[in-house]
Amino acid sequence: MQDTTLPSIGWGKQTRVILDVGCGVASFGGYLLEKDVLTMSFAPKDEHEAQIQFALERGIPAILSVIGTQKLTFPDNVYDLIHCARCRIRWDRDGGKPLMELNRILRPGGFFIWSATPVYRDDSTHLSIWNSMVSFTKSICWKMVAKTVMRNSGGIGLAIYQKPISNTCYEERKENNPPMCDWKDMKNTSWYVPLLTCLPSLPQGDSGKWPTTWPERLGSKPPSLSQEPGAEEIYFEDTKHWSALVSDVYLDGLAINWSSIRNVMDMNAGYGGFAAALIDQPLWVMNVVPINGADTLAVIFDRGLIGIYHDWCEAFNTYPRTYDLLHSSYLFGNLTQRCDIVVVVAEMDRIMRPGGWILVQENMEMINKLNPIFQSLHWETAMHEEQFLVGKKGFWRPTDRGAKT
Ligand SMILES: *[C@@H]1O[C@H](CO)[C@@H](O)[C@H](O)[C@H]1NC(C)=O
Ligand SMILES: *[C@@H]1O[C@H](CO)[C@@H](O)[C@H](O)[C@H]1NC(C)=O
Ligand SMILES: *[C@@H]1O[C@H](CO)[C@@H](O)[C@H](O)[C@H]1NC(C)=O
Repeated sequence: MQDTTLPSIGWGKQTRVILDVGCGVASFGGYLLEKDVLTMSFAPKDEHEAQIQFALERGIPAILSVIGTQKLTFPDNVYDLIHCARCRIRWDRDGGKPLMELNRILRPGGFFIWSATPVYRDDSTHLSIWNSMVSFTKSICWKMVAKTVMRNSGGIGLAIYQKPISNTCYEERKENNPPMCDWKDMKNTSWYVPLLTCLPSLPQGDSGKWPTTWPERLGSKPPSLSQEPGAEEIYFEDTKHWSALVSDVYLDGLAINWSSIRNVMDMNAGYGGFAAALIDQPLWVMNVVPINGADTLAVIFDRGLIGIYHDWCEAFNTYPRTYDLLHSSYLFGNLTQRCDIVVVVAEMDRIMRPGGWILVQENMEMINKLNPIFQSLHWETAMHEEQFLVGKKGFWRPTDRGAKT
Protein backbone atom coordinates (compact mmCIF):
# COMPACT_ATOMS: atom_id res chain seq x y z
CA MET A 1 0.00 0.00 0.00
CA GLN A 2 1.24 3.46 -0.82
CA ASP A 3 1.54 6.00 1.97
CA THR A 4 -0.31 8.39 -0.28
CA THR A 5 -3.55 6.38 -0.03
CA LEU A 6 -4.36 7.89 3.33
CA PRO A 7 -1.79 10.35 4.63
CA SER A 8 -3.57 10.69 7.96
CA ILE A 9 -2.51 7.15 8.97
CA GLY A 10 1.06 8.38 9.48
CA TRP A 11 2.83 5.00 9.55
CA GLY A 12 5.60 4.99 12.14
CA LYS A 13 4.61 8.43 13.44
CA GLN A 14 0.96 8.61 14.57
CA THR A 15 0.42 4.93 13.91
CA ARG A 16 2.88 2.87 15.90
CA VAL A 17 1.17 -0.22 17.40
CA ILE A 18 -1.09 -2.28 15.22
CA LEU A 19 -2.85 -5.61 15.31
CA ASP A 20 -2.77 -7.86 12.26
CA VAL A 21 -5.67 -10.28 12.50
CA GLY A 22 -5.54 -13.34 10.32
CA CYS A 23 -1.79 -13.12 9.96
CA GLY A 24 -1.29 -14.21 6.32
CA VAL A 25 2.41 -14.89 6.11
CA ALA A 26 3.26 -12.01 8.43
CA SER A 27 4.70 -10.09 5.51
CA PHE A 28 2.70 -7.00 6.43
CA GLY A 29 4.27 -6.89 9.90
CA GLY A 30 7.75 -7.49 8.48
CA TYR A 31 7.35 -4.70 5.96
CA LEU A 32 6.04 -2.24 8.53
CA LEU A 33 8.77 -3.05 11.08
CA GLU A 34 11.18 -1.18 8.82
CA LYS A 35 8.88 1.83 9.12
CA ASP A 36 8.93 1.84 12.93
CA VAL A 37 5.50 0.25 13.17
CA LEU A 38 5.17 -2.56 15.69
CA THR A 39 2.69 -5.22 14.55
CA MET A 40 1.22 -7.87 16.77
CA SER A 41 0.08 -10.68 14.48
CA PHE A 42 -2.39 -13.18 15.65
CA ALA A 43 -3.64 -16.29 14.02
CA PRO A 44 -6.72 -18.15 15.04
CA LYS A 45 -5.73 -21.14 17.13
CA ASP A 46 -5.46 -24.57 15.49
CA GLU A 47 -5.93 -23.41 11.92
CA HIS A 48 -2.81 -21.33 11.50
CA GLU A 49 -0.27 -22.39 14.11
CA ALA A 50 2.43 -22.75 11.49
CA GLN A 51 2.00 -19.08 10.53
CA ILE A 52 2.70 -18.03 14.09
CA GLN A 53 5.84 -20.10 14.14
CA PHE A 54 6.86 -18.63 10.80
CA ALA A 55 6.28 -15.06 12.00
CA LEU A 56 8.23 -15.62 15.20
CA GLU A 57 11.08 -17.28 13.31
CA ARG A 58 11.32 -14.10 11.25
CA GLY A 59 11.40 -12.05 14.44
CA ILE A 60 7.87 -10.68 14.10
CA PRO A 61 5.64 -10.45 17.20
CA ALA A 62 2.87 -13.04 17.09
CA ILE A 63 0.53 -14.94 19.38
CA LEU A 64 -2.01 -17.71 19.13
CA SER A 65 -5.45 -16.45 19.91
CA VAL A 66 -9.01 -16.68 18.75
CA ILE A 67 -12.02 -14.42 18.53
CA GLY A 68 -14.55 -16.85 19.90
CA THR A 69 -16.78 -16.13 22.84
CA GLN A 70 -14.31 -14.30 25.08
CA LYS A 71 -12.55 -10.96 24.98
CA LEU A 72 -9.05 -10.84 23.54
CA THR A 73 -6.52 -10.39 26.33
CA PHE A 74 -5.84 -6.73 25.59
CA PRO A 75 -7.13 -3.57 27.30
CA ASP A 76 -9.70 -1.19 25.78
CA ASN A 77 -8.63 1.57 23.35
CA VAL A 78 -5.02 0.55 22.78
CA TYR A 79 -4.36 -0.38 19.12
CA ASP A 80 -3.69 2.50 16.73
CA LEU A 81 -4.82 0.41 13.78
CA ILE A 82 -6.18 -3.06 13.08
CA HIS A 83 -5.54 -4.83 9.79
CA CYS A 84 -7.22 -7.86 8.29
CA ALA A 85 -6.09 -8.82 4.78
CA ARG A 86 -7.44 -11.76 2.80
CA CYS A 87 -9.78 -11.64 5.67
CA ARG A 88 -12.19 -14.52 6.01
CA ILE A 89 -13.56 -13.71 9.45
CA ARG A 90 -17.28 -12.92 9.51
CA TRP A 91 -17.10 -9.78 11.64
CA ASP A 92 -20.86 -9.31 11.49
CA ARG A 93 -21.73 -12.76 12.85
CA ASP A 94 -23.36 -13.20 16.27
CA GLY A 95 -24.93 -9.76 16.21
CA GLY A 96 -21.56 -8.22 15.32
CA LYS A 97 -19.80 -9.33 18.53
CA PRO A 98 -16.44 -9.97 16.78
CA LEU A 99 -16.44 -6.47 15.28
CA MET A 100 -17.45 -4.99 18.62
CA GLU A 101 -14.40 -6.67 20.10
CA LEU A 102 -12.17 -4.92 17.56
CA ASN A 103 -14.03 -1.72 18.39
CA ARG A 104 -13.22 -2.24 22.07
CA ILE A 105 -9.46 -2.58 21.61
CA LEU A 106 -9.10 0.05 18.84
CA ARG A 107 -7.99 3.50 19.95
CA PRO A 108 -10.63 6.23 19.44
CA GLY A 109 -9.79 7.73 16.03
CA GLY A 110 -7.92 4.54 15.03
CA PHE A 111 -8.39 2.75 11.71
CA PHE A 112 -9.58 -0.70 10.68
CA ILE A 113 -8.26 -1.83 7.29
CA TRP A 114 -10.39 -4.61 5.87
CA SER A 115 -9.33 -6.35 2.71
CA ALA A 116 -11.72 -9.13 1.84
CA THR A 117 -13.74 -10.42 -1.09
CA PRO A 118 -17.02 -8.78 0.02
CA VAL A 119 -15.30 -5.40 -0.53
CA TYR A 120 -14.76 -6.02 -4.25
CA ARG A 121 -16.91 -8.93 -5.46
CA ASP A 122 -20.52 -8.21 -6.23
CA ASP A 123 -22.26 -11.57 -6.48
CA SER A 124 -25.22 -11.88 -4.15
CA THR A 125 -23.43 -13.71 -1.32
CA HIS A 126 -20.63 -11.16 -1.16
CA LEU A 127 -23.03 -8.30 -1.57
CA SER A 128 -25.12 -9.41 1.37
CA ILE A 129 -22.03 -9.63 3.61
CA TRP A 130 -20.98 -6.18 2.40
CA ASN A 131 -24.41 -4.74 3.14
CA SER A 132 -24.43 -6.29 6.57
CA MET A 133 -20.99 -4.72 7.29
CA VAL A 134 -22.21 -1.36 6.02
CA SER A 135 -25.16 -1.28 8.37
CA PHE A 136 -23.30 -2.76 11.35
CA THR A 137 -20.30 -0.42 11.10
CA LYS A 138 -22.76 2.47 10.87
CA SER A 139 -24.56 1.30 14.01
CA ILE A 140 -21.28 1.47 15.98
CA CYS A 141 -20.39 4.86 14.44
CA TRP A 142 -17.43 3.66 12.38
CA LYS A 143 -16.92 5.96 9.43
CA MET A 144 -15.83 4.47 6.11
CA VAL A 145 -12.98 6.78 5.10
CA ALA A 146 -11.82 4.90 2.00
CA LYS A 147 -12.82 2.12 -0.32
CA THR A 148 -10.42 1.28 -3.11
CA VAL A 149 -9.60 -1.41 -5.60
CA MET A 150 -5.89 -1.78 -6.23
CA ARG A 151 -5.52 -2.46 -9.95
CA ASN A 152 -1.86 -3.46 -9.74
CA SER A 153 -2.57 -6.24 -7.27
CA GLY A 154 -5.12 -8.24 -9.22
CA GLY A 155 -8.14 -6.10 -8.41
CA ILE A 156 -8.03 -6.72 -4.65
CA GLY A 157 -10.02 -4.15 -2.76
CA LEU A 158 -9.98 -2.77 0.71
CA ALA A 159 -12.16 -0.63 2.91
CA ILE A 160 -10.84 1.60 5.68
CA TYR A 161 -12.98 2.50 8.69
CA GLN A 162 -12.31 4.92 11.50
CA LYS A 163 -13.54 4.63 15.08
CA PRO A 164 -15.09 7.83 16.48
CA ILE A 165 -13.25 10.04 18.97
CA SER A 166 -16.25 11.29 20.89
CA ASN A 167 -19.52 9.87 22.21
CA THR A 168 -21.66 12.31 20.23
CA CYS A 169 -22.40 9.92 17.37
CA TYR A 170 -23.44 7.17 19.80
CA GLU A 171 -25.88 9.53 21.49
CA GLU A 172 -27.33 10.73 18.20
CA ARG A 173 -28.16 7.26 16.88
CA LYS A 174 -31.87 6.75 16.19
CA GLU A 175 -31.80 3.46 18.05
CA ASN A 176 -29.58 2.61 21.03
CA ASN A 177 -28.53 -0.60 19.28
CA PRO A 178 -26.03 -2.00 20.09
CA PRO A 179 -26.69 -0.41 23.47
CA MET A 180 -24.15 1.62 25.41
CA CYS A 181 -22.45 -0.33 28.20
CA ASP A 182 -23.31 0.19 31.83
CA TRP A 183 -20.51 1.12 34.15
CA LYS A 184 -20.83 -2.32 35.78
CA ASP A 185 -20.19 -4.06 32.44
CA MET A 186 -16.80 -2.41 32.26
CA LYS A 187 -15.18 -3.33 35.54
CA ASN A 188 -13.78 -6.67 34.33
CA THR A 189 -10.26 -6.82 32.93
CA SER A 190 -9.97 -8.79 29.72
CA TRP A 191 -9.29 -12.20 31.19
CA TYR A 192 -11.84 -14.98 30.75
CA VAL A 193 -14.53 -12.40 30.18
CA PRO A 194 -17.34 -12.84 27.64
CA LEU A 195 -17.35 -10.66 24.52
CA LEU A 196 -19.14 -7.37 24.98
CA THR A 197 -22.62 -6.96 23.58
CA CYS A 198 -22.57 -3.24 24.31
CA LEU A 199 -20.53 -0.21 23.31
CA PRO A 200 -18.15 1.21 25.92
CA SER A 201 -18.23 5.01 26.25
CA LEU A 202 -15.06 6.61 24.96
CA PRO A 203 -12.61 8.07 27.47
CA GLN A 204 -12.76 11.85 27.54
CA GLY A 205 -10.25 14.50 28.56
CA ASP A 206 -6.53 13.75 28.75
CA SER A 207 -6.97 10.00 29.07
CA GLY A 208 -8.78 9.95 25.71
CA LYS A 209 -6.03 11.77 23.84
CA TRP A 210 -3.95 10.16 21.11
CA PRO A 211 -0.34 9.68 22.35
CA THR A 212 2.47 11.88 21.03
CA THR A 213 4.00 10.83 17.71
CA TRP A 214 6.68 8.16 17.64
CA PRO A 215 9.50 8.21 18.81
CA GLU A 216 8.69 10.95 21.37
CA ARG A 217 5.77 8.76 22.44
CA LEU A 218 8.12 6.30 24.21
CA GLY A 219 9.30 8.86 26.75
CA SER A 220 6.25 11.15 27.07
CA LYS A 221 3.62 10.99 29.76
CA PRO A 222 1.20 8.23 28.70
CA PRO A 223 -2.45 9.40 28.44
CA SER A 224 -3.64 6.27 30.33
CA LEU A 225 -1.37 6.86 33.31
CA SER A 226 -3.29 7.04 36.57
CA GLN A 227 -4.39 10.57 37.51
CA GLU A 228 -3.50 9.98 41.16
CA PRO A 229 -0.99 12.36 42.72
CA GLY A 230 2.53 10.99 42.46
CA ALA A 231 1.75 8.59 39.60
CA GLU A 232 3.71 10.63 37.13
CA GLU A 233 6.78 10.74 39.38
CA ILE A 234 6.69 7.01 39.96
CA TYR A 235 6.41 6.42 36.23
CA PHE A 236 9.39 8.61 35.28
CA GLU A 237 11.48 7.14 38.13
CA ASP A 238 10.69 3.67 36.83
CA THR A 239 11.89 4.66 33.36
CA LYS A 240 15.16 5.96 34.81
CA HIS A 241 15.62 2.86 36.93
CA TRP A 242 15.30 0.52 33.94
CA SER A 243 17.43 2.62 31.69
CA ALA A 244 20.29 2.49 34.21
CA LEU A 245 19.88 -1.21 35.05
CA VAL A 246 19.77 -2.25 31.40
CA SER A 247 22.78 -0.20 30.32
CA ASP A 248 24.94 -0.82 33.39
CA VAL A 249 24.14 -4.43 34.18
CA TYR A 250 22.07 -6.25 31.57
CA LEU A 251 23.88 -5.23 28.39
CA ASP A 252 27.46 -5.27 29.67
CA GLY A 253 27.62 -7.02 33.01
CA LEU A 254 26.15 -10.43 32.20
CA ALA A 255 27.26 -13.31 29.99
CA ILE A 256 24.30 -12.87 27.63
CA ASN A 257 25.14 -12.60 23.92
CA TRP A 258 22.63 -9.91 22.90
CA SER A 259 23.51 -10.09 19.22
CA SER A 260 21.86 -13.52 19.04
CA ILE A 261 18.59 -12.22 20.52
CA ARG A 262 15.53 -11.18 18.57
CA ASN A 263 12.33 -12.31 20.36
CA VAL A 264 12.20 -11.18 23.97
CA MET A 265 9.51 -11.53 26.61
CA ASP A 266 9.24 -9.50 29.79
CA MET A 267 7.13 -11.73 32.01
CA ASN A 268 6.22 -9.02 34.52
CA ALA A 269 6.52 -5.86 32.48
CA GLY A 270 5.20 -3.11 34.79
CA TYR A 271 5.26 0.10 32.74
CA GLY A 272 7.42 -1.48 30.02
CA GLY A 273 10.61 0.16 31.30
CA PHE A 274 12.77 -2.85 30.41
CA ALA A 275 11.51 -2.84 26.81
CA ALA A 276 11.86 0.94 26.55
CA ALA A 277 15.50 0.74 27.68
CA LEU A 278 16.22 -1.79 24.90
CA ILE A 279 14.61 0.26 22.13
CA ASP A 280 17.86 0.76 20.20
CA GLN A 281 18.60 -2.98 20.09
CA PRO A 282 17.48 -4.95 17.02
CA LEU A 283 14.91 -6.94 18.98
CA TRP A 284 11.29 -6.67 20.11
CA VAL A 285 9.73 -7.31 23.51
CA MET A 286 6.41 -8.96 24.37
CA ASN A 287 5.40 -7.10 27.55
CA VAL A 288 3.37 -9.44 29.70
CA VAL A 289 1.25 -7.92 32.46
CA PRO A 290 0.22 -10.58 35.01
CA ILE A 291 -3.50 -10.45 35.71
CA ASN A 292 -3.04 -10.60 39.47
CA GLY A 293 -0.90 -7.45 39.68
CA ALA A 294 -1.37 -3.78 38.82
CA ASP A 295 -2.94 -3.24 35.38
CA THR A 296 -0.34 -1.20 33.50
CA LEU A 297 -0.92 -2.61 30.01
CA ALA A 298 -2.67 0.43 28.52
CA VAL A 299 0.34 2.55 29.56
CA ILE A 300 2.65 0.13 27.72
CA PHE A 301 0.61 0.56 24.51
CA ASP A 302 0.50 4.33 25.05
CA ARG A 303 4.31 4.31 24.98
CA GLY A 304 4.27 2.60 21.59
CA LEU A 305 5.14 -0.87 22.88
CA ILE A 306 3.11 -4.07 22.71
CA GLY A 307 1.97 -6.51 25.33
CA ILE A 308 -0.67 -8.86 26.63
CA TYR A 309 -2.33 -9.97 29.86
CA HIS A 310 -1.41 -13.36 31.22
CA ASP A 311 -1.71 -15.60 34.25
CA TRP A 312 1.62 -17.38 34.73
CA CYS A 313 -0.16 -20.26 36.45
CA GLU A 314 -1.39 -21.15 32.94
CA ALA A 315 0.31 -21.91 29.60
CA PHE A 316 1.23 -18.96 27.37
CA ASN A 317 -0.35 -18.94 23.91
CA THR A 318 2.68 -19.42 21.74
CA TYR A 319 4.38 -22.13 19.77
CA PRO A 320 7.19 -24.00 21.63
CA ARG A 321 10.80 -22.77 21.31
CA THR A 322 9.93 -19.33 19.97
CA TYR A 323 11.60 -16.87 22.37
CA ASP A 324 15.31 -16.04 22.64
CA LEU A 325 15.23 -14.35 26.04
CA LEU A 326 12.77 -14.32 28.93
CA HIS A 327 13.11 -11.59 31.53
CA SER A 328 11.29 -11.44 34.83
CA SER A 329 11.64 -9.09 37.74
CA TYR A 330 10.10 -10.10 41.06
CA LEU A 331 7.39 -12.20 39.43
CA PHE A 332 7.69 -15.44 41.38
CA GLY A 333 7.03 -14.17 44.90
CA ASN A 334 3.39 -13.44 44.04
CA LEU A 335 2.89 -16.67 42.15
CA THR A 336 3.84 -19.09 44.89
CA GLN A 337 0.54 -18.59 46.69
CA ARG A 338 -1.38 -19.70 43.62
CA CYS A 339 0.66 -22.31 41.79
CA ASP A 340 3.82 -24.40 41.88
CA ILE A 341 6.87 -22.56 40.49
CA VAL A 342 8.03 -25.84 38.91
CA VAL A 343 5.09 -25.55 36.53
CA VAL A 344 6.03 -21.96 35.65
CA VAL A 345 9.66 -22.93 35.01
CA ALA A 346 8.52 -25.84 32.83
CA GLU A 347 6.47 -23.39 30.77
CA MET A 348 9.49 -21.06 30.44
CA ASP A 349 11.51 -24.05 29.24
CA ARG A 350 8.83 -24.88 26.69
CA ILE A 351 8.65 -21.46 25.06
CA MET A 352 12.42 -20.89 25.08
CA ARG A 353 14.50 -21.88 22.07
CA PRO A 354 17.57 -24.05 22.77
CA GLY A 355 20.53 -21.71 23.22
CA GLY A 356 18.21 -18.97 24.55
CA TRP A 357 18.50 -17.14 27.86
CA ILE A 358 16.58 -16.34 31.01
CA LEU A 359 17.31 -13.31 33.13
CA VAL A 360 15.50 -13.41 36.45
CA GLN A 361 15.66 -10.84 39.23
CA GLU A 362 14.54 -12.12 42.67
CA ASN A 363 15.75 -12.23 46.25
CA MET A 364 18.27 -14.98 47.14
CA GLU A 365 15.67 -17.13 48.83
CA MET A 366 13.69 -17.36 45.59
CA ILE A 367 16.80 -17.72 43.43
CA ASN A 368 17.84 -20.68 45.59
CA LYS A 369 14.50 -22.29 44.83
CA LEU A 370 14.56 -21.54 41.11
CA ASN A 371 18.15 -22.45 40.35
CA PRO A 372 17.88 -26.21 41.01
CA ILE A 373 14.72 -26.41 38.87
CA PHE A 374 16.51 -24.88 35.87
CA GLN A 375 19.50 -27.12 36.51
CA SER A 376 17.30 -30.19 36.58
CA LEU A 377 16.25 -29.19 33.06
CA HIS A 378 19.96 -29.08 32.16
CA TRP A 379 20.19 -25.30 31.88
CA GLU A 380 23.57 -23.68 32.57
CA THR A 381 22.98 -21.07 35.28
CA ALA A 382 24.93 -18.38 37.08
CA MET A 383 24.09 -15.92 39.86
CA HIS A 384 25.01 -12.29 39.80
CA GLU A 385 25.09 -9.66 42.56
CA GLU A 386 22.85 -11.81 44.77
CA GLN A 387 19.76 -10.76 42.83
CA PHE A 388 20.05 -12.02 39.26
CA LEU A 389 19.83 -15.53 37.94
CA VAL A 390 21.07 -15.92 34.37
CA GLY A 391 20.46 -19.20 32.59
CA LYS A 392 21.11 -20.65 29.17
CA LYS A 393 18.98 -23.43 27.82
CA GLY A 394 20.91 -26.34 26.34
CA PHE A 395 19.92 -28.76 23.63
CA TRP A 396 18.96 -31.53 26.05
CA ARG A 397 15.48 -33.02 25.78
CA PRO A 398 13.71 -35.12 28.40
CA THR A 399 13.18 -37.86 25.82
CA ASP A 400 16.96 -38.26 25.39
CA ARG A 401 17.21 -39.61 28.90
CA GLY A 402 18.11 -43.28 28.77
CA ALA A 403 17.42 -43.45 25.06
CA LYS A 404 18.97 -46.48 23.48
CA THR A 405 21.02 -45.90 20.40
C1 LIG B 1 -17.25 -10.24 34.49
O1 LIG B 1 -16.52 -11.42 34.77
C2 LIG B 1 -17.24 -12.42 35.44
C3 LIG B 1 -16.31 -13.58 35.74
O2 LIG B 1 -15.60 -13.96 34.61
C4 LIG B 1 -18.46 -12.86 34.60
O3 LIG B 1 -19.23 -13.81 35.30
C5 LIG B 1 -19.31 -11.63 34.28
O4 LIG B 1 -20.35 -12.00 33.41
C6 LIG B 1 -18.46 -10.56 33.63
N1 LIG B 1 -19.26 -9.39 33.40
C7 LIG B 1 -19.36 -8.84 32.19
C8 LIG B 1 -20.29 -7.68 32.10
O5 LIG B 1 -18.78 -9.23 31.21
C1 LIG C 1 26.97 -14.09 19.57
O1 LIG C 1 25.92 -14.38 18.65
C2 LIG C 1 26.26 -14.12 17.31
C3 LIG C 1 25.01 -14.32 16.48
O2 LIG C 1 24.38 -15.54 16.75
C4 LIG C 1 27.40 -15.01 16.91
O3 LIG C 1 27.76 -14.74 15.56
C5 LIG C 1 28.60 -14.76 17.81
O4 LIG C 1 29.63 -15.69 17.51
C6 LIG C 1 28.21 -14.93 19.28
N1 LIG C 1 29.28 -14.51 20.14
C7 LIG C 1 29.76 -15.27 21.14
C8 LIG C 1 30.85 -14.68 21.94
O5 LIG C 1 29.32 -16.39 21.36
C1 LIG D 1 2.91 -8.61 44.13
O1 LIG D 1 2.32 -8.47 45.40
C2 LIG D 1 2.49 -7.18 45.96
C3 LIG D 1 1.94 -7.22 47.39
O2 LIG D 1 0.73 -7.92 47.43
C4 LIG D 1 1.82 -6.16 45.08
O3 LIG D 1 1.99 -4.86 45.60
C5 LIG D 1 2.42 -6.23 43.69
O4 LIG D 1 1.72 -5.34 42.80
C6 LIG D 1 2.33 -7.62 43.14
N1 LIG D 1 3.02 -7.67 41.87
C7 LIG D 1 2.60 -8.42 40.87
C8 LIG D 1 3.35 -8.33 39.61
O5 LIG D 1 1.65 -9.19 40.94
